[in-house]
Amino acid sequence: MAEKARIAVLVSGGGTNLQALIDAQGNVITSGEIVLVISNNPEAYALTRAANAGIATKVITRRGCGSKEAFTTALIEALDEARIDLIVLAGFMSILDKRFTDHFAKRIINIHPALIPSFCGEGFYGLKVHEAALAYGVKVTGATVHFVNEIPDGGEIIAQKAVDILPGDTPEVLQRRVMEEAEWILLPQAAEKVCRAMLDERRQTER
Ligand code: GRF
Repeated sequence: MAEKARIAVLVSGGGTNLQALIDAQGNVITSGEIVLVISNNPEAYALTRAANAGIATKVITRRGCGSKEAFTTALIEALDEARIDLIVLAGFMSILDKRFTDHFAKRIINIHPALIPSFCGEGFYGLKVHEAALAYGVKVTGATVHFVNEIPDGGEIIAQKAVDILPGDTPEVLQRRVMEEAEWILLPQAAEKVCRAMLDERRQTER
């Protein structure tokens, strides 16, 4: 591994978490560098954020690939070609199959906007997560960064941060608070932690 771990960020939407990662480079994130952003949505504003930061982008859509199988292959090939060490899922709205998660075992992390094991798993994405937390009546929610395996939101937890639910919260208000108070802080910290561990491990084996 070179001096820094090579990071790819996979996105589908607005990319505020990608922006937090970009802004953290050189301060919170010192052991890794974002070298590629892949979107499965050609319209994602996250692509503009990446381009503005001078980061290479790629659009890979399931429709363009023809099948889920071909989509998985195209993603693996693009990531291998760019010699990616760490894959960060930051609002990537496609569930990755076992061939992908096995290929990059312990090299994929995801941010989920709740405290796993609450309000997670298949079907819990975007505002649905916050709607479920409010419907249940929990008083605390938060965000979780975890390794990704073949079980949706089922991989080992890396970091969590709690966020209070306040009277009168709507899903939208809560989503924003979870992002500001947890996601945008936690994801760069967790990315740095995993990159540092990768560099340490590489140094050990090079000795
Ligand atoms: C975030 O809430 C994240 O937790 C979830 O998807 C959303 C992505 O938002 N996985 P953004 O594209 O980073 O703004």
